[in-house]
Amino acid sequence: MSKSIRKYLIAGNWKMNLNAAEGAELAAEVAALSGQQNTVGVAVCPPFPALASVAKAIEGSSISLGAQNMHYQPSGAYTGEVSAEMLRHHFCSYVILGHSERREFFAEDDAFINRKVKAALEANLRPILCVGETLAQRESDETIAVVKHQVEGGLAGVSKDAIDQVVIAYEPVWAIGTGKTATPEMAQAVHAAIRSIVADLYDATSAAKVRILYGGSMKPENAAELLAQADIDGGLIGGASLKASAFHEIVTAALA
Ligand code: 13P
Repeated sequence: MSKSIRKYLIAGNWKMNLNAAEGAELAAEVAALSGQQNTVGVAVCPPFPALASVAKAIEGSSISLGAQNMHYQPSGAYTGEVSAEMLRHHFCSYVILGHSERREFFAEDDAFINRKVKAALEANLRPILCVGETLAQRESDETIAVVKHQVEGGLAGVSKDAIDQVVIAYEPVWAIGTGKTATPEMAQAVHAAIRSIVADLYDATSAAKVRILYGGSMKPENAAELLAQADIDGGLIGGASLKASAFHEIVTAALA
């Protein structure tokens, strides 16, 4: 099956940037520039306090809303946490899970991330499951083994019916916020490996439907080449998603 069965997704991970008012302003610009078409899926993922204002700013456009994290419990004594239902209440369609910054700074492991992936799916939220190797792991040739472990761990117990709701983001840790991008060939090799891991876990048809995004210093200058790769189905954009014009150039590269 060809790539055309998968719709590109360009998602902006705003990380811990922009308050509710600033977020609404950026979201309105994104909606005006990128939200009048439906060929490419576009999502913005602001910090929690900006979800409500951003939801309002993108109303009536084709832009989707995502969050950057959640807890797997529906409610309860989990001070500081936010549930999938709460995100749905704010009109979120996506939630980024297992980002390398969560793994590194908040000690999230595959089992913990897996509980969130399953809770997100149960609440009809599409998880964007992030995987990727560190520089040391790449240099010692462990990339595919690390990514395999993260994909299998993150998807444990996810049914075949639900797998096409999952988005996987390959984000080599050494390329995040560093200006260093994986070459299109390097990224494609890992994306193809991820698709075959999904095929082994489910089947070829399911694997052909799963979108695999690239993340790590994706920007207008390198987006077209990355997006042209057979198994790269979009981008998870950090820095370049904070400027509507740069973000739109990446969306345009996906439209081409
Ligand atoms: P940068 O695009 O800033 O490298 O961030 C990538 C990322 O972590 C997206 O989740």
